[in-house]
Amino acid sequence: MTNQPSPMRAQPETPFPRRSLLYVPGDSLRKIEKAAALDADTLILDLEDGVARSQKEAARAVVGEALARLDFGPRERLVRLNHPTHGMIEAELAATLPSPPHGYVLPKVEAASELLDLDARLAQAEQARGLAQGSLTIFAMIETARGLLRLGEIAASTLRLAGLIFGAEDFTADVGAIRSPGGVELLYARSSLVITAAAYGLHAVDAVYLELDNLAGLEEECALGRGLGFGGKTAIHPRQLPVINQAFTPAPAEVARAQALVNAFAAHQAQGTGVFVYEGKMVDQPVIVAAQRLLARMAQITPLAPTAPPPK
Ligand code: COA
Ligand code: MG
Repeated sequence: MTNQPSPMRAQPETPFPRRSLLYVPGDSLRKIEKAAALDADTLILDLEDGVARSQKEAARAVVGEALARLDFGPRERLVRLNHPTHGMIEAELAATLPSPPHGYVLPKVEAASELLDLDARLAQAEQARGLAQGSLTIFAMIETARGLLRLGEIAASTLRLAGLIFGAEDFTADVGAIRSPGGVELLYARSSLVITAAAYGLHAVDAVYLELDNLAGLEEECALGRGLGFGGKTAIHPRQLPVINQAFTPAPAEVARAQALVNAFAAHQAQGTGVFVYEGKMVDQPVIVAAQRLLARMAQITPLAPTAPPPK
């Protein structure tokens, strides 16, 4: 039996490491200015739940102005829209497309049709503004029971989709879960998201950690997320960034071990041996695939991403 080719693309090339993705309230020019110099791989300029209803219009204008005026360096900038049912997306795109971000985050996604609608709007905008087709990316937030049940359909919806972001707070409220320190009640959702992202070549991003002063707790949650296969985590405060960046960067010892394994494998292959023992453990092809994946991830993270202007 041969393996069927994957119906979707391999993880596309991106200059952005996407270890830490910081939410910045869209109505706060001060916070956006600060964020432009923070050590976050990605900034999510928020027009959704971080902005009061009375400030939605003001936030659109602030984010539009910030995108036009500020130098964000190598940081990826995304704009989080409100869900289509609020009827704001046209105004949100109109305000932010003149100096376009790299992409948009769509919250509370529950069906492929929601992404296809945004996809069509972005394709139209790209054509109208002379931007490269497909250059504006989309990240889908999975934060409801329905969204989780339709993960496969959502992930397969459009090639514009770059990642899935888990929204733990909305998800908890939606299913009626009770949060515990270890987060066992969210394990199924987290794992489902990671597995779907891997199947469709998408970046998997874990949820925010709300306890701003508990960096040890954040570190534990990062380790859980990375262990499950997430590539990065959303953040809400500058203080969380160093912890998240470190947790989602393979440690030097991990990198050295992966390189040594790959070298040893090559040497054994040259002698016609496919399986061997390394530091007391059996090594064969899948172990090497995991090591190569870690090395590829490391190459993406360091040297840090070059300055990537928004799509032209
Ligand atoms: N982005 C950029 N800068 C931020 C920031 C963020 N997310 N959170 C805090 N800062 C800045 C503050 O402006 C402050 O700088 P300043 O004193 O020079 O203005 C500095 O970091 C320290 O902040 P601190 O005083 O500890 O926090 P705060 O009381 O100002 O704000 C929150 C606390 C939670 C309101 C704030 O961190 C925040 O807005 N986080 C994002 C919330 C969000 O977007 N939620 C929706 C998605 S879950
Ligand atoms: Mg949410």
